[in-house]
This record gives sequence, structure tokens and C-alpha cells, in this order.
Amino acid sequence: MSNDAYVLAAEAAVALRELTGVDSFDVALVMGSGWVPAADAIGRTISELSVTDLPGFAPPAVAGHSGRIRAVETESGRKALIFLGRTHLYEGRGVEPVVHGVRTAIAAGVSTVVLTNAAGGLRPETQDVGEPVLISDHINLTGDNPIRGATFIDLTEVYSKRLRELAREVDPSLAEGVYVAFRGPTYETPAEIRMLRTLGGDLVGMSTVLEAIAAREGGAEVLGISLVTNPGAGLVGEPLNHEEVLEVGRATAARMGVLLGKVVNKL
Ligand code: HPA
Repeated sequence: MSNDAYVLAAEAAVALRELTGVDSFDVALVMGSGWVPAADAIGRTISELSVTDLPGFAPPAVAGHSGRIRAVETESGRKALIFLGRTHLYEGRGVEPVVHGVRTAIAAGVSTVVLTNAAGGLRPETQDVGEPVLISDHINLTGDNPIRGATFIDLTEVYSKRLRELAREVDPSLAEGVYVAFRGPTYETPAEIRMLRTLGGDLVGMSTVLEAIAAREGGAEVLGISLVTNPGAGLVGEPLNHEEVLEVGRATAARMGVLLGKVVNKL
């Protein structure tokens, strides 16, 4: 990565401290498509700001992504930074804005990053729409990487086993799966979905993997959770649309919020 990206994240962290009055944060949560309504259950809001109040953030481009950042205190006294939306690679601004939130959070003290997303389910035989699935590993087919230069980061355990176990203490019914990311913004073709099943994927989406890599580079532990909003293209013959993705999120927000709140309290 260019040095500038780190400097910009450090500057954003300083502005964040000033604007929220919180000196250091413990955990960051990135709320993906459909997850924003779940944020209300995570804790007491200390303050909320627009991403554009901080250096380096792009204004939101996607319906259902509000572009706000909320500082929250959880029941157990943890300070959480909640990103109500994210920048995606398909917005065409390059990889640095995509990972700027995670880098800013780490510069603001965060040691745990919770990445949520909406995903197509590649295993409708065993997955239900509306089900949260813990990400056990990923396949990065975005064609990009947030790290520039010969910095060889180990990705043997991107998604912390410890955090997955902790999440399963909260909800023993949580399944695990491999998340595959394409750049988007098109949904996949049925042929691509068949390919991803063969490759060992269980979930498909357009986010998370680049942020997870940036979090590991920064030394944070990562928990990834996908909300299955639809079976992958062609698996049931129905066309996909973004509104359906948001609707599944609204319908499951209460459960997802309780799950995230309990997990954060256990960190
Ligand atoms: N593919 C890619 N991204 C998605 C999907 C999908 O089927 N569902 C929700 N986000």
C-alpha cells in the first residue's frame, strides 16, 4: 500500500477521536447490505457522524448504505465503531477507499474487526435465505489487493477461529462457509455460480475480502458473517435484485442485532 493511505487513516483516526470524544475504540463493525438496521441493537449511541466528516472517505453510492459512522458503548463497556455502510470496489474509486474504514478503525485502537455482508448462497441444499453464516475462509476473485509492494502477509487464518467459536457460544446453530468475492457490480452468471461451487465456495458477494486482508495486515482479529439473502444465480431460476437483498436484511435485523450485540459483549 502507499504510505499515504496509512497517513490518511491516522489523520481520520485523529478526527474521529475529536468528533466522538472517544479516545480509543475496541471493536469496529462494518454493516453490509441489509445489516444497517441491526446496528441499533448493539449498544448505546455516543455520537454519530457522516463519513464525509473524516478525511479519506467517499460518500455512499448504494441504496441501503447510509455512509454514517456511529460510536457506541456496549452493555459490557466496550467502545464500538459501527460503519453503517461501506465503499465497494465496483464503485470504481480503487482499493484504498474500500479499506480506509478498517485502517482508520485500527489507527483508532481497534483490535477486532467484524465484517458483515449480504451474500448469495451457493449451497441451497443446506442454506436457508435469512440465515447468518460465519465466514471460515475466503477466495478473493476481485482481482485486487489492498497491499502494494512486497509485503507478504500470512492469510492462513484470516477469519479468527477463536472469534467463530465465541460466536457459536452465542448461537450454536451458526453454520460456517467459504466466502467468494467478485468485484461486481453485476450479479454472477449461473455458469459462474456452478464454477464457484466446484471451487469450494459456499457464499458469494462483492465485499469483505479486501477489508479482511487490510485488517490482518493491521494485526486485528477478524470475524466475518454473511447473511444469505438469496440462492446464487440460476440455482432456483429466479432473477436477483438489490431490493430483495435489503428486504431480507430488514426482516432479520432484530436477530442479527442481538447476535452482534452478544458477540461484541463477549470479546
Ligand atoms: N451475488 C453477489 N452478491 C450478492 C448476492 C449474490 O447472489 N446476494 C447478495 N449480495
